[in-house]
Amino acid sequence: MSSTGSLDTALVTGASTGIGAAYADRLAQRGHDLVLVARNLDKLQSLAGRLVRERRVKVDILAADLTSPADRARVEQRLRDDETIGMLVNNAGTASGGALAAGLVDDVASMIELNVVAPSRLAGAILPRLLARGRGSIINVASVLALAPELFGGAYAASKSYVLTYTLALHQEVGDRGIRVQAVLPGVTRTDIWERSGNDVNAIPAHMIMEVDEMVDAALAGYDLGEVVTIPSLPDIEDWNRYDAARRLLAPNLSRDHAADRYKSDIAEDA
Ligand SMILES: NC(=O)c1ccc[n+]([C@@H]2O[C@H](COP(=O)([O-])OP(=O)(O)OC[C@H]3O[C@@H](n4cnc5c(N)ncnc54)[C@H](OP(=O)(O)O)[C@@H]3O)[C@@H](O)[C@H]2O)c1
Repeated sequence: MSSTGSLDTALVTGASTGIGAAYADRLAQRGHDLVLVARNLDKLQSLAGRLVRERRVKVDILAADLTSPADRARVEQRLRDDETIGMLVNNAGTASGGALAAGLVDDVASMIELNVVAPSRLAGAILPRLLARGRGSIINVASVLALAPELFGGAYAASKSYVLTYTLALHQEVGDRGIRVQAVLPGVTRTDIWERSGNDVNAIPAHMIMEVDEMVDAALAGYDLGEVVTIPSLPDIEDWNRYDAARRLLAPNLSRDHAADRYKSDIAEDA
């Protein structure tokens, strides 16, 4: 129970700044107590202080580098043990890693630790407890690049495709067992991620950039609507529905006992 007595505590990763800090603020506004996770202790403390003062919720801080197995294990333990936590917001992420051709494989591996391994491990840690009580939520912050890898170089889009597919698979498994699962696919959102990854957000046309509070408010509105996939900027939800329906149309032909005719050469047919 939260300090207001009714809502689950939410654990938000990457809460020191950007989208995660906005989630923390909006969830506190809704009355959720919070556990905030990121590396920068000063920023976490300053946000926690403000939320306690202004939103009158209870806020704990868990300083952790989610690329470090030891730090990650502390967060997993908290998710396994803390009965008050019923919502996980897997938000921490980085767009570093560079162009694939640059061959920065250590940077790519580190990005995968944060964008792919961490959310999977954290969801895996909380899930048994949520399933046991038949209630809870996991929100995974992906990106529109999960649908459009040609818009941004490197392995970042691939890491976000994983988050989207993971979320769809998780929903398929546990959606009818009381667990709310949502993938959020932001477009360009004005946060530090751009500068941190060596990109200039101001070089992007202004009409493509959303302010962070608006993005998170839309994502939570999508959550309230019961959406499994939320694309905050997409004007017509039917566009997503048609895309998803086209994907599902492939299903009957994705696994068959013979190759398609176009892959059968004359030689193979004569043999
Ligand atoms: N901004 C966009 O345009 C955009 C678009 C689509 C998707 N997204 C996704 O949205 C999520 C949030 O990004 P953002 O834009 O808010 O970026 P941001 O402003 O750079 O914030 C990233 C957050 O993740 C934390 N973080 C980074 N590395 C970490 C690590 N190793 N361990 C623990 N925490 C770590 C950072 O805190 P510390 O530095 O204190 O650790 C910070 O709180 C990411 O998953 C990103 O991929 C962003």
